[in-house]
Amino acid sequence: MRHLLTLEHLNAQGLNHILSLAEQFLTPEGKIVEAAPAYLAGKTVVNLFFEPSTRTRSTFTLAAKKLGAEVLNFDIQSSSTKKGESLKDTVLTLQAMQCDIFVVRHNENGTPQLIADLLKENGHVINAGDGTHEHPTQALLDMLTIKQNKKDFKHLSIAIVGDILHSRVAHSDIQALKILGVPDIRVIAPKSLLPDNAENLGVKVFHSLATGLKDVDIIMVLRPQLERMQANDFSKEEYCKQYCVTLESLSYAKRDVLVMHPGPINRGLEIASEVVDSTHSVILQQVTNGIAVRMTVMSLLANPQL
Ligand code: CP
Repeated sequence: MRHLLTLEHLNAQGLNHILSLAEQFLTPEGKIVEAAPAYLAGKTVVNLFFEPSTRTRSTFTLAAKKLGAEVLNFDIQSSSTKKGESLKDTVLTLQAMQCDIFVVRHNENGTPQLIADLLKENGHVINAGDGTHEHPTQALLDMLTIKQNKKDFKHLSIAIVGDILHSRVAHSDIQALKILGVPDIRVIAPKSLLPDNAENLGVKVFHSLATGLKDVDIIMVLRPQLERMQANDFSKEEYCKQYCVTLESLSYAKRDVLVMHPGPINRGLEIASEVVDSTHSVILQQVTNGIAVRMTVMSLLANPQL
């Protein structure tokens, strides 16, 4: 594996290998180990983020530093892209500075692949979220969180609630859950926030929380991606009335249901504040796991023998 652009080429063995390595970067209490092998000594990681990010960008930075890398946080606003420099020339310039790992977030689907195609012989690209397409490291950290809490993927019912249409996280999570053999994957959303023929994703489709959450083990909540919608197409009030995941919604699910959210969260829109702060929520565990998973992915790209 030279780049991580998608999960679609991984099988269960490969995915489980990544999760097992990630667990080695965590203590039994679920914290990141204090001392990790310097798998990225002498390497430079560049965060190339053309869209905002809190979790992904910060955890890639922490992960790279833990492994002994130099980290370059490329600031688009003060870069020469503002003077007309093309993406190609920016990437080739960074490669000439001996950047080894390009962590790329972009609002256009396929940009990480485009950058991978530009890097002829050397360099690795990690997709940190492209448009509505994929967010593979988010899915990996989500799978790690499920594994820690539920152990076996083969008997789970999992519902993804929210804006499936615009969500790269939903696409990557569904891929990963299918690879790991989850037998019951559901999506719950209004028709306007579902792709045409959503069933073709290999999921069951529901339009109400009461039916879709029945007896599920895990609820993955997604925010409405307002930045990818026309302002008039969406009413926050209407959405909240039908799809906000509240403590009452949890009563439809299993008693020990887990609530996940990739963040950023909008308390009181797609998820009630009491749910975020409840014992069902593993949202902050997901954030910590993001460091372990990103340490693993970068270690594997730089050291394929691991
Ligand atoms: N989950 C996620 O990608 O969050 P950020 O946009 O803050 O990176």
